[in-house]
Amino acid sequence: MLMALFGKHKKRGTSETMNYGAKLITVAKPQSPISEQFRTVKTNINFMSVDSKVRSLAFTSANISEGKSTVTANVAVAFAQAGKKVLLIDADLHRPTLHQTFDLTNNVGLTTVLTSEADEINMEDVVKPGFVTNLSVLTSGPLPPNPSELLSSNRMKQFLDVAEQHFDLVVLDLAPILEVSDTQALSSHIDGIVFVVRQGVTQKLAVKRAVEMINLSKTRLLGYVLNDVKSGSDGGYGYGYGYGYGYGEESKK
Ligand SMILES: Nc1ncnc2c1ncn2[C@@H]1O[C@H](COP(=O)(O)OP(=O)(O)OP(=O)(O)O)[C@@H](O)[C@H]1O
Ligand SMILES: [Mg+2]
Repeated sequence: MLMALFGKHKKRGTSETMNYGAKLITVAKPQSPISEQFRTVKTNINFMSVDSKVRSLAFTSANISEGKSTVTANVAVAFAQAGKKVLLIDADLHRPTLHQTFDLTNNVGLTTVLTSEADEINMEDVVKPGFVTNLSVLTSGPLPPNPSELLSSNRMKQFLDVAEQHFDLVVLDLAPILEVSDTQALSSHIDGIVFVVRQGVTQKLAVKRAVEMINLSKTRLLGYVLNDVKSGSDGGYGYGYGYGYGYGEESKK
């Protein structure tokens, strides 16, 4: 698993993960099998973009700690490494992580943009570079009392429109869909959602309910990432990021 791999890394005496954030394996070990799996997720998202272009997509999960932030950040890196100009936004206004992952300050961020009264949104003022070429990061900013209101606001829509003009792809990390209404609040402003399921943790019923909610929301379910897959073939160090398209249809049966 990611933790185990990074453990090995530390024993070799490198400070890379300390500097780069513990979860960014696509930065620390781009040739590793897990990084390859993040690239597969990226490729599958590209396939979903063939008929109707995906300019903005968000990752969510049913509940907390199912791997959203890890998956979101690594997939964003994978897109950037493939040459796309990417803006990664921390839209989890409950448990933000991007400022820690990318070693950034968080006194200014998404919430600053959304609550500012300035007419023009100047990308350069709020967006910071994110370790790899082509990747820019917008941290959450100070946590607000009304996250879903901010995410559904016209100001958010306006900001995403500007972001989509500046970047090839906007990737957002969201709070879990069964815990808060943020995903639905944001849904009409984005082109799609990728759903993260943690194997052995996310309950079947939770998957079903979450997928129903995504299908009722105003955006497309682009697919799912099966996180922390126990493959069994490597002595219990199972890991994996599967990707599929089935859930949305199944939930409608
Ligand atoms: N495939 C994996 N293998 C091992 N550990 C993992 C894996 N995916 C995530 N983790 C670990 O699980 C924890 C939760 O992951 P992460 O923060 O990415 O989830 P999250 O869904 O964003 O959580 P939150 O609800 O707090 O936003 C972290 O400690 C992370 O390192
Ligand atoms: Mg998170």
